[in-house]
Amino acid sequence: MNTSALARQPNPLPNPFRPGNGVAPPYLAGRDRLLAAFEDWLLEQPPLHANWALTGLRGTGKTVLLGEFATRSERAGWLTLQHELGDRHRDDVRLAEAIAEDCKALIGRADALAAVGQAVERGARWLRPKRIRVGQVSIDPSYTDDAPAAANVMGNAFGQLDSVLSHSERPGAILLYDEAHLLADDRGRERFPLSTLLATLGAVQREHQRVRIILCGLPTLSLNLKRARTYSERMFRHVSIGNLELDAAEEALAIPLAGSGRSFGLSLIGEICEQTAGYPYFLQFFGAFACSRIGLEHIELADFQRVESALLYELDLAFFEDRFEGAPPTEQLVLEAMARDTGPVTLRRLRPQLSGVASVDLLVRRLIERGLVYRTGRATYDFALPLFRSFIRRRRQLTRLTRTVRSGQNAENARDT
Ligand SMILES: Nc1ncnc2c1ncn2[C@@H]1O[C@H](COP(=O)(O)OP(=O)(O)OP(=O)(O)O)[C@@H](O)[C@H]1O
Ligand SMILES: [Mg+2]
Repeated sequence: MNTSALARQPNPLPNPFRPGNGVAPPYLAGRDRLLAAFEDWLLEQPPLHANWALTGLRGTGKTVLLGEFATRSERAGWLTLQHELGDRHRDDVRLAEAIAEDCKALIGRADALAAVGQAVERGARWLRPKRIRVGQVSIDPSYTDDAPAAANVMGNAFGQLDSVLSHSERPGAILLYDEAHLLADDRGRERFPLSTLLATLGAVQREHQRVRIILCGLPTLSLNLKRARTYSERMFRHVSIGNLELDAAEEALAIPLAGSGRSFGLSLIGEICEQTAGYPYFLQFFGAFACSRIGLEHIELADFQRVESALLYELDLAFFEDRFEGAPPTEQLVLEAMARDTGPVTLRRLRPQLSGVASVDLLVRRLIERGLVYRTGRATYDFALPLFRSFIRRRRQLTRLTRTVRSGQNAENARDT
């Protein structure tokens, strides 16, 4: 490729790829079986598990799937509400308020309610319900102060929604909560958002499973659920998603290209699938970068190699650097030690390399919570993101060069040290 093939910006040729956060991809690759199982679940009466927990590392396509779940549920007649949880929902009272708001919004949409025209009355009752039936159990919240217990608020919210749905033609309502790994119980601070949620939801689902929930988040969500209530195993079907298999990764690139009138050579598709390891966000990013920077309708591997270092530079700045800098210095030391190895590392191997660092185990656990590291086996860990290892190595090299230039040494010598 001569330099003229490097596209002028903005490149007028179509670019079908969509790297982003929760942005629906041009083609949702490799999730057909999961989506079929989801549609079966919508029809199951009663379902084997009333709720789903969808987990996966950052950028594996959870939010996109959650959106697809919502679309398919609505198509099957369910009411849905999608909500991204934040740090404030670690507090049970705040979570209860959010759930009450969400149930209220769903009730507002339920046909039965509109038909009997009780919207205003129900809205008023919402804040202080007098008496509510959940299955056979009758609950009397009897509020005495202005801060009703979180469990009462949640229980009432689910109960009212369930009762409205029981008069509706619709199969039910589904709350889809993203970033739900934030909902961990905290005994130290006496905050129990997750166990309160499980207890109140479990109560309302005992007889009918009209109100359902899908919790979605990083893999720690599964553990948090089990820790909160042992019976959560019976309440949730656990589904974890990861990188796409090779054929699905190829489709994720080739199908959008075919629709746009552009194409990649087979060896380029193979190279991108290998470098990205089928990681959905990177598939979109690599595809988008090549289509944006190269002004050719058909792009071959050699063309791509001309822009590869620019791509890595952009990825470093836009993706890796923030994630690395977001970790405190001690956790960065662990990441650097891990990057010295070529594959998964054991704690036994890490500890001597980090002799000045206290509680390596705890630091590794924190890195897992950040979604940067994952557990591959017993006390064995690896980077959660493809190419993160090589980023840390590039970064170390750069830092070393900068330091030596600053101290007046020859950079060439520094490279050999
Ligand atoms: N099945 C798929 N096929 C192709 N591209 C996908 C697929 N799933 C997700 N993507 C793309 O990957 C990127 C990340 O998706 P998404 O934001 O849903 O990930 P996530 O798991 O929610 O990430 P995070 O944990 O950071 O919130 C988006 O650009 C999306 O278009
Ligand atoms: Mg997401």
